[in-house]
Amino acid sequence: MPIIPARLEHSADGVPYSSTFDDIYHSADGALGQAQHVFLAGNALPERWQGREHFVILETGFGLGLNFLATWAAWRADPQRCKRLHFVSCELHPFSTEDLARVHARWPQLAAQADALCAQWPALTPGLHRLHLDNDQVTLTLYFGDAREGLAQLLARADAFYLDGFSPARNPELWSARIFHLLARLAAPGATLATWSVAGEVREGLRRAGFEVRKAAGFGGKRQMLCGILANSETRSQTDEQALPARGHALIVGAGLAGCSMAERLAARGWTIELIDQAAGPANGASGNLAGVLRPLPSLDDNRMSRLTRAGTLHGWAHIARLRARGLAVQADACGVLHLARDGAQAAKMQAVVERLGLPASHLSHVDADAAARIAGCTVAAGGWWFAGSGWVQPPSLCAANLAASGQSLHTHFGRKLAQLERQGGLWHAYDDQHRLIAAAPVVILAAGVGVLELDTGMRLPVVSARGQVSLLPAASASPPRVVVCRGGYVSPEIDGLRCAGATFDVDDSEPALRARDHADNLGKLEAMLPGFTHGLDATALRGRVGFRPASPDRLPMIGALPADGTAAPRAELAGLARQAGLHVLSGYGARGLVWTTLAAESLASALCAEPLPLERDLWEALDPGRFLLRPPRPGRTAE
Ligand SMILES: Cc1cc2nc3c(=O)[nH]c(=O)nc-3n(C[C@H](O)[C@H](O)[C@H](O)COP(=O)(O)OP(=O)(O)OC[C@H]3O[C@@H](n4cnc5c(N)ncnc54)[C@H](O)[C@@H]3O)c2cc1C
Ligand SMILES: C[S@@+](CC[C@H](N)C(=O)[O-])C[C@H]1O[C@@H](n2cnc3c(N)ncnc32)[C@H](O)[C@@H]1O
Repeated sequence: MPIIPARLEHSADGVPYSSTFDDIYHSADGALGQAQHVFLAGNALPERWQGREHFVILETGFGLGLNFLATWAAWRADPQRCKRLHFVSCELHPFSTEDLARVHARWPQLAAQADALCAQWPALTPGLHRLHLDNDQVTLTLYFGDAREGLAQLLARADAFYLDGFSPARNPELWSARIFHLLARLAAPGATLATWSVAGEVREGLRRAGFEVRKAAGFGGKRQMLCGILANSETRSQTDEQALPARGHALIVGAGLAGCSMAERLAARGWTIELIDQAAGPANGASGNLAGVLRPLPSLDDNRMSRLTRAGTLHGWAHIARLRARGLAVQADACGVLHLARDGAQAAKMQAVVERLGLPASHLSHVDADAAARIAGCTVAAGGWWFAGSGWVQPPSLCAANLAASGQSLHTHFGRKLAQLERQGGLWHAYDDQHRLIAAAPVVILAAGVGVLELDTGMRLPVVSARGQVSLLPAASASPPRVVVCRGGYVSPEIDGLRCAGATFDVDDSEPALRARDHADNLGKLEAMLPGFTHGLDATALRGRVGFRPASPDRLPMIGALPADGTAAPRAELAGLARQAGLHVLSGYGARGLVWTTLAAESLASALCAEPLPLERDLWEALDPGRFLLRPPRPGRTAE
């Protein structure tokens, strides 16, 4: 369902108002006073987050984000604040950045937080969005869509709930029995709730869902409000907190896109990292190309691939922006990507996808051949999809920036090939082929690309090696195409005097040397996209690069804990599969390493730290390496 943005309106007395719901966004007696009295104090905050490693707040309606901003400001002002604050919220009708900024301007005391929020405000696309704020210590996870679906898809344990829909009479969906039961399912032991509503059906619904509720003194003109606690649950104990692997220590095997992103995400959480790679430095495997494309793959039914690649693309570009804001150089350009239609039938389908999904034009639109040619600056074979916010990234520069961002907690072990992993006394020991210890830690993450095939992982992952060759073409500065163009293959704009055109895809072909026929193949794809473009290019005289993609049978990566038993269990459930203690994998990135790398690392890091996940439940399960035990890949099926 396309997201319909909220329209900024005001009531007669100047309070932000929704004509869709015929209600105001916050108490006429003051938004911040209400946030402070009802939501913070009603959940015994800031006291309850003090001394904690992390604290999770879940809100039902994000609206103008004023509760969030007030909570963030209170957290900042508290010297005993928890180390990391997670705020998770759902919003069916998000505001545009401009409208948010307009409203926030009324509260100059929140300007720093409001500006940071607006600077990262995501595209209004359905699903989960994660924002990293305040030096990565405050994480905002937003679900754009109906909370009834969002809460069912959320993987989180909330310590406090802010129930803030419009009034139950005007917005009953947000106060329904279904919502209350979903909240109870997401509640951590000792979870509390607060709301300004004391409506009888709200109290009764919460009780039925398992909360004990009581009335308390209300805010402003409201005599009463409601506070609650999850019944029959002990307050989160010291032992619960100690069970969290805070300030952990991990071995990461592989310093390509997968491993470097993982190092950065764990380092941001204070972990110590031992990064092992057989090569002399990072990005020497599949991640060593001059440029790759970072863009989504939409579908008519917005299937998992479509949702995952959209989330991965948006998260990936936001991460690059954050790295750059820290002064780290990532060579990349969101110059836009044209995906040309193969034929008339595909052109019609592409147009139908754009209409059906109704995504913001900054993310996806449809252009005819003339418009595509104007965008590219040269003749193109057809029209197609225009991803205005997508573009190219140089993978080695992203790897280097991620490692630089990891700082002092990163220890690199380059030029060391992992031959064996042994678990002794709660630690995984990594040995080389002489049985010399490289490093040891309680957690291992295998991010070894196709190298995972040589490692004894218990379960044999169905990764296949897919050889790919790119061709590097000489290019004059700012010559067309000025954007990435793809269709079967892809070509980048000019980058440092070269243009990257690719790529071949050959499964189980281990030839490391460049081949003229593969260059010819790349030129053939290029000519089909940009007629006349390859005139004068000699396939026997081109430079290029060969890499081996770790491809997956269903084209989705494998992210998460490795099953303990590698035998097929078609009747089991993912949650029921026994896992190997502390052994995780990031693999199967195939032809979309740039798309997966940041979101996969953030997801696995969140799972390792028992934090809310940035992915919906069905998407996270679709990536579980255990899925192949439930439905083994069909014989003969290859990736891409
Ligand atoms: C030609 C080509 C074009 C591509 N184009 C695109 C594109 O346009 N867009 C896109 O998103 N993706 C693209 N990709 C895919 C993307 O590059 C890969 O998905 C990604 O690089 C995989 O990253 P990785 O970290 O899993 O693997 P790698 O980058 O291969 O890293 C694995 C690392 O593990 C190390 N290693 C392996 N075994 C061991 C061991 N036993 N001990 C120690 N170290 C070990 C290796 O040395 C290597 O450095 C392309 C790939 C190729 C080859
Ligand atoms: C009272 S306002 C929230 C104010 C907000 N907490 C703040 O601090 O600014 C209620 C919000 O709930 C949203 N909402 C209503 N129904 C929803 C639903 N089914 N799913 C998600 N959000 C919904 C509305 O669009 C609105 O933004």
